[in-house]
Amino acid sequence: MTRFASPDIGAHKAPSSVIASAPGKVNLGLWVGPIESSGYHPLTTVFESVAMREYVEAEAGDDVGSDERVCVQTLVYRLAPSAREPRFDRDLTREFASLDGPANLAARAAQALRPAGVSLRLTIHKTLPVAGGMAGGSADAAAALTAVNHLLELRLTDEDLAERGRHLGADVPACLLGGVSLGLGRGDRMRMIASGTARPTSQSRWWTLVFAEKGLSTPRVFAEFDRLSMAVSGTTEATAPNASSGSTSPMPPALTNPGETIGSRELLGLSRKGTGIAGALHNALAPAAFSLRPELEEIGSRCLAAGATKWMLSGSGPTVAALCETRDQARRVSEELVGAPAVRGTAVTWGPARGVRTHHRLPSWCIDRGEI
Ligand code: C5P
Repeated sequence: MTRFASPDIGAHKAPSSVIASAPGKVNLGLWVGPIESSGYHPLTTVFESVAMREYVEAEAGDDVGSDERVCVQTLVYRLAPSAREPRFDRDLTREFASLDGPANLAARAAQALRPAGVSLRLTIHKTLPVAGGMAGGSADAAAALTAVNHLLELRLTDEDLAERGRHLGADVPACLLGGVSLGLGRGDRMRMIASGTARPTSQSRWWTLVFAEKGLSTPRVFAEFDRLSMAVSGTTEATAPNASSGSTSPMPPALTNPGETIGSRELLGLSRKGTGIAGALHNALAPAAFSLRPELEEIGSRCLAAGATKWMLSGSGPTVAALCETRDQARRVSEELVGAPAVRGTAVTWGPARGVRTHHRLPSWCIDRGEI
């Protein structure tokens, strides 16, 4: 395996490799406004960072290829329902090898920070689903920004990184921040509501995540949202069919102004501990995702039948997030759902988890890329 040399930055020798991790997310609340001329929809969203993390190792050197200044390799892992640690999955790694080009969000993050003359290699240890509505690509970008910032000793502040991140993808700032956060604008203007923890505590929430066989593209779900909104109101008004009742649910007025967020009924509901948030969960994109993938509603019903308190779609889907009272209950739901139709796999996790972090070493379950 090639080892990269330390970049020489002045007289000081920078580290030869830096590891950073960032969490995935579920959306506890997601309200969507009408499409704007930019092609984006204004959002009000509440993110919860969860303990499933992406690890990115960044190395600097000059042998990553003459025309490619950032080289990326993704190693994919799966978490079996009863297992404590993810395991490397060679088939999935091969399946997603095509993502390892310059368009990869982590590669673009590294490229945005890379000074002239420095080549970078990123190894992504991926546990989050690809195109799963859990911000896996954004977590990779958040971890890459942080790893490269430390590797090249750029001394960019958290605010600098968030600013760079939001240009890469709307969810990147949430992955940097962690905890429970309120996102406005495209969901990228963040405000922390509750901090995340390194380990589960008595206050943590337990989730079973159910990953669908096939990913769902975010732009496709937003386009379907526009189509359904037109059908309901004749315009793409700031309303969307409600996931549970089929009625319309306007953007919560107090949440549309960043200065008036605290005190809103929706936000208070989603600030509760544990399963206290169940009644306040909301996802305006759910009807659009169900319209494209009707089997997702069946998956949700199975989660309830297996004992989950409530289920919802994470972001634009297709990952189904089932809220559970306890870790044991989450494990039972997870075991029940494995092997169900249209289900690729399940995982038990908790939140709110902390945001991006650097590490001295990779977790023991990560393999060396020389081993594949
Ligand atoms: O932010 P990101 O680049 O991941 O978004 C991917 C696509 O999803 C956008 O190009 C747009 O089509 C759609 N999108 C949207 N409104 C948002 C976020 C994403 O329409 N707030």
